Order: sequence, then structure tokens, then C-alpha cells
Amino acid sequence: MSTSVAGAVAKRAPRPTSQFGALGAHVDRADPCTMVIFGAMGDLTKRKLFPALYQLAAEHLLAPEFAVIGIGREPGDTDDSFREKMRAALQESDEVRHFDDEVWKKLAQQIYYCGGDASEEAAYQGIEQKLNLIEKDRAPEDRNRFFYLAVPPSVFQTIVRHLASSGLVPRRDDPAARPWARIVVEKPFGHSLETACQLNALVLSLFAEHQVYRIDHFLGKETVQNVLVFRFANSIWEPLWNRQWISHVQITAAEAVGVEARGKYYEEAGVVRDMFQNHLLQLLALTAMEPPPGMTADAVRDEKVKVLKSVRWLTPESIPSSAVRAQYTAGVAGGNLVAGYRDEPDVARNSQTPTYAAVRFHIDNWRWRGVPFLLRSGKRMAKRYSEIAVTFQAPPHLMFGGNGQGELQPNVLVLRVQPNEGISLNFQVKVPGAAVALTQELEVAPVDMDFSYTEAFGETTAPAYETLLLDVMIGEMTLFTRSDEVEAAWKIIDPLLLHWESHPANPMPTYPAGSWGPAEADRLISLDGARWRTPI
Ligand code: BG6
Repeated sequence: MSTSVAGAVAKRAPRPTSQFGALGAHVDRADPCTMVIFGAMGDLTKRKLFPALYQLAAEHLLAPEFAVIGIGREPGDTDDSFREKMRAALQESDEVRHFDDEVWKKLAQQIYYCGGDASEEAAYQGIEQKLNLIEKDRAPEDRNRFFYLAVPPSVFQTIVRHLASSGLVPRRDDPAARPWARIVVEKPFGHSLETACQLNALVLSLFAEHQVYRIDHFLGKETVQNVLVFRFANSIWEPLWNRQWISHVQITAAEAVGVEARGKYYEEAGVVRDMFQNHLLQLLALTAMEPPPGMTADAVRDEKVKVLKSVRWLTPESIPSSAVRAQYTAGVAGGNLVAGYRDEPDVARNSQTPTYAAVRFHIDNWRWRGVPFLLRSGKRMAKRYSEIAVTFQAPPHLMFGGNGQGELQPNVLVLRVQPNEGISLNFQVKVPGAAVALTQELEVAPVDMDFSYTEAFGETTAPAYETLLLDVMIGEMTLFTRSDEVEAAWKIIDPLLLHWESHPANPMPTYPAGSWGPAEADRLISLDGARWRTPI
């Protein structure tokens, strides 16, 4: 048995172990269970959840007793019509690596539909009847269930109340109790610190923390899980991983897409709630946290909470020189002329919602004091690219500087989250043959030492939702955020939101779609004597 876990790594067909080793618990198969999806006809169900279920089925990781019930408001739908819709979604999905009719036929028999309005109490009797009907044959002795809330946050509270009062999710204080009942919650978890705390208070008054799986799908990405292995399964980084050797850290989540059909949601959220409060702060926490005593869910989450609590809060005085917001204007993306944010559907013509932000954070602890963590994310940027780039201090004495040798770059370690997942270390070498003598006209150039997941493992990494769904089924919580972690992240973000929302930008900084962001962000990072990386 391997050590436990940062995410279940199932025995996927030919996934060789490497110098990085296997990441998590080895799972032969998920626990027998039934998954109930609220929001069965929604985008998330079609684009992420069903493709993930299909892949798990293809890899024989679902228990034979597994069943999934979609809950939707369309009264005309039946088990069969729902199956057909999901089949069409799978055939269109990029996340399904190869659609196999045999896999589908088997999975289809495990799919059911139940019509009902989840905000109405009456719907829950219908769900219970459907569950009983299905489980009576499939798993009469072991009726494990999880309820996936793929619904807008406005109905979240109503659903969790009904799940508790109907008895569908009874509170279970003992994590080992069977049958188990869990709920899975999609982000956004709250709209502010206050609402997140209210939500946590409600949920924890009804269920035990170990029953609540708060999704941050970035944590399911292979490369994000690898941050901990990279840091703590190798001894060479730890002595360098601190203020003495690191000059700054850049964390980027750039997206090429615009807001697409999500204008309504995005106007309320903006980039700070959509990407910073969750994904980017999680990347920061994994990069900056102390080694946990073990890889159990609570040990890892304790360390993340600790480091999030050490992030210095922004103030109205510090925000103008620490944070930049902007919106994209029309431009060329992927070879096409695309609209600016204010011309997108469901977006106000005078919208103040930022689609880009860059923020400098400081972590006030012994390891990081004085090291800027520069985080940025934006829609409609030049390309889809997420990475953590750790820039080391320049050598203390630059004896190769000067004499037309170009600028000496500091070493940069880059953890590429997506795409082209991998790790590279950039360092200086002597250009062969160019030196007349070591002291004269010596030419120095930066080169990369590169590790690529695809080259090393020959296989594309598993989509995040596949890992996360399997984790819910086996009860592994490391890759889900705990209530105190969510609140610690909101505490960091809240002052920025409050300040920006009460001080409209006039004018709002802009950047053309297809670019790397606004000039204001370049000025922000130049205060640290650095430049944003622009991956080729
Ligand atoms: C989601 C955000 O959480 O993450 C989206 O709501 C964003 O706006 C997405 O596009 C990015 O995730 P990924 O996995 O596509 O990089």
C-alpha cells in the first residue's frame, strides 16, 4: 500500500511510475455508490461530469453497483432521453479520449433521470423513491450516496436544507460510518467573506465537515498535485525554497477564451472571485506552505490554512500600488476578430467588472518575508497558459556582466500547469566557441533543462474532474477545500473587492483581446525590478 494521498491515482492502464513516483493512493475501484446530480442539463454536467464518469467507466474504475441520477426541471425527460443527451455530450467532448460504444452501452445502464424542481421540498420524495428503486437491485446493503450541486449559488442553500430535512443526507459524525452520504459543492463558495462564512455555518450545522467536498478543480490537475511531490520528494529544492534564494514568484492563469455565454455570472463574479479567491490562492498556498507532517487530507490542509493566514492583507493605502484591474477590448484572438468585454452578451456597457487582475501579495512569515508573490489572471489573453514561475536571486557578483554579453538572467524554475505540462529550469551557459579568453568577450546565454509529462509518460494527464470524482467516491479529501481554508482565502480577497467595488476605475484600464494584459500591470511588476513572463 502506498502512502496516502493527494488525490486518488487509480491504476490507470499503462501509467508508468517515474522519478516522480505515484502521487496518491492506488485505487482498484471506487466504492459502490449512487451519484445524484442537481443541474443535470447544465453545462458543467455535460462538459465535465459526464466525460469524467465516462473515462472512469472506460478505465473500469466505477463499481459495478454505481449509478448516476440526473435531477432536472424538464418534465418531458425520461431515463432514455437523458441518456441520449449525455451520449451526444460525450461524443462532442474534447475530454473523452476515445468514444467506445461498448463502454457507453454499459455506462448507459447506470444512468437515470428524475424530474423535479430542487428548490421545492416535494422533489425530494421523488428523488428518494428513485434512489430506492435503483439501489434495491444494485446495492441493497451499501447505499452510499453523493449529491453533486452543479447549480447556481442562489439555490445552494435551499438544496442543502432540503437534503438535510428530507433525511437524504443525514449528519454522520463518524467518518467511517456506512452507508456514507456526501455533498459536493461547486465554486463559487460564497460571494464574499461574510456570505462564505454564513454558508459554512449553515452547512456545518447540518453535516459534518468530512461530508462536504468543496471543489476547486485546479487541485485535480495533475501538475498542481505535483507541486507537493516536486517540493517534498526531492531534497535539492528545500534549502533554496525561501527568502534567501528566491527573489519573487509569478503565478499566472491566462485564458484565451472570453466570458463566452457566461456574461451574467461573470458580471457578478469578475476575475478576482472567479480565479483568485480559489485557483490562484491554492497555487500560492501549495507553493509557499511548509511541509506537512504527512500526506493526509487534514495535514495538508492545515499547512495551506497556515500559509494563507500569513498572507498580508491589502489595505486601501496599499492597493493602488499592489493591484491592477482591467477589461479586454476588441482584438484578435485565435485569428478571429473578437468583441470587447463591454460588448459581450449580458454585460453592462459601463461594466466595472474586471476581466484581468494582477496583484502583489506578501507572506509575512520566516520563510517568505520580503518575497513578492505576483499573481495574474485574465480572460482573452494571448494564449491559454498557467504556470508557477520561481525566480531565484541573481548571483551576488556578476563577473560576466558587461562587454556586449547581453543581460544575465536569474535562474527561473517553471512549473507548467497547462498546457504542455512539465517543469523547466532556466540557467546560464557559456555559448560554445565564442570566448577568446575567459575574461574577454565571453558570451553567456540562458538555456532550459526541461521535463515534459507527455515525453516522460507518453500519456496525457487525466482531466481534473476524473480525479476529483474518484476521490469523492473513495472518501479522499486532500484535493477539496476545507471550511477554514475557504474563509482564509476570502479574508485575503475581501479587502481588494471592497476597495475596488467602492472605488470605480475611471477610466477602467484596458488591454486588447489577444494581448498579455494592460500596461498598468507591467508597471506594477516593474516596482519589483521584474517583468511578466511571456511564454512563447
Ligand atoms: C473556472 C472559472 O473555475 O475555471 C472559469 O469559472 C475558467 O471562468 C476556468 O475559465 C478555467 O479552468 P481551466 O481548467 O479551463 O483552466
